Amino acid sequence: MRTIQASFLYFVFLAALLHLGCKENKKENQSENQMVKTESGKSHVGKSTFGEMPNGEQVDKYTLSNENGMEVDVITYGGIITRWTAPDKNGNYQDVVLGFNDLESYFGDVPYFGALVGRYGNRIAKGQFSLDGETYTLAKNNGPNHLHGGNKGFDKVVWNAEAENTDDGASLVLTYTSADGEEGYPGKLDVKVTYTLTGDDQLDIHYEAVTDKPTVVNLTQHSYFNLSGDFSQDILDHEVTLNAPAYLPVDAGLIPTGELRPVEGTPFDFTEPKAVGKEINADNEQIKRGGGYDHCWVLDETNGDFGLAASAYHPETGRLLEVYTDEPAIQFYTGNFLNGALVSKTGGTYGKRSGLCLETQHYPDSPNQEAFPSTRLNPGETYSSRTSFKFSTK
Ligand code: BGC
Repeated sequence: MRTIQASFLYFVFLAALLHLGCKENKKENQSENQMVKTESGKSHVGKSTFGEMPNGEQVDKYTLSNENGMEVDVITYGGIITRWTAPDKNGNYQDVVLGFNDLESYFGDVPYFGALVGRYGNRIAKGQFSLDGETYTLAKNNGPNHLHGGNKGFDKVVWNAEAENTDDGASLVLTYTSADGEEGYPGKLDVKVTYTLTGDDQLDIHYEAVTDKPTVVNLTQHSYFNLSGDFSQDILDHEVTLNAPAYLPVDAGLIPTGELRPVEGTPFDFTEPKAVGKEINADNEQIKRGGGYDHCWVLDETNGDFGLAASAYHPETGRLLEVYTDEPAIQFYTGNFLNGALVSKTGGTYGKRSGLCLETQHYPDSPNQEAFPSTRLNPGETYSSRTSFKFSTK
């Protein structure tokens, strides 16, 4: 017994020594400009120029990589993830997100590929809401409704960026100040989004914001995943799980009706893994409204706890993506509006349903629906929201 105790103590002592050693290493590495190394010496953030805005402002690309070989390219325009490599069952890392190779392609009519979406991700009915008796008018950029922050949302601005070393891995801190009244929203909003790539192939995203007037905030990440790594294929064979007992039915303009409808016995039931294509063309009014899946699912964990919200699995390559969040909901969008008009990174085009989005967030139209969890942010409070995308194989 004593021997066990002694070896245990020795082990703890060794671990503490190692830990101290690592800390020292990290301090040394912090002095390196824009090049961050973690303990293993293999994870880092590289920086290069991606392009130029029409006004001459430079847009940079940061590449976060870890010791396994995962790479995530993030550009300062829109905080967009332009490339993200993930392993298949044979250990081959391949790009699994829709996007473009050059900045100009992001200036067109692009459905938020890989972008940071704000100030309010998803729809606000009729582009209008009230706070404390004051009515605010927003752009109607999606039929009669407001979508993803307006005509020039957070996906279309250049963010400040700083590479940083953390205990969890190499990370990139993006900041942006949205002026009072920008896109119609009240309050100057200081936003900070931290992307951290960990050693276990997980991208952690921490969203933070503070305001100087009451406002509404709902931030999300809009990556389109195609786990086959082949953008000419659709995602109908991906097996999706959503830890959600209910979803929000929508009206013809995709605004939630206010009802939380149980998924059980409907094509919206993803509580067990199910191929996306299995019921995507079902004779169901809600499916027809979305042109497939384009709805918000209400997560099991609605108390702000961080937990597994969703997963997507591609049987052929063995790639598994798990999504963890502390948000109360997730928009599952199956790329129904993609129509082959955009040229892909590999030379083909992005066809209908060639990517799927798992957008963690609060419910759409919350500013107009009192029964929904509030998206209001007051001065003195800090908006804080976490989501992790974890890749593995099975
Ligand atoms: C929405 C879709 C929309 C897409 C691109 C998704 O978040 O749910 O309706 O077409 O974003 O804008």
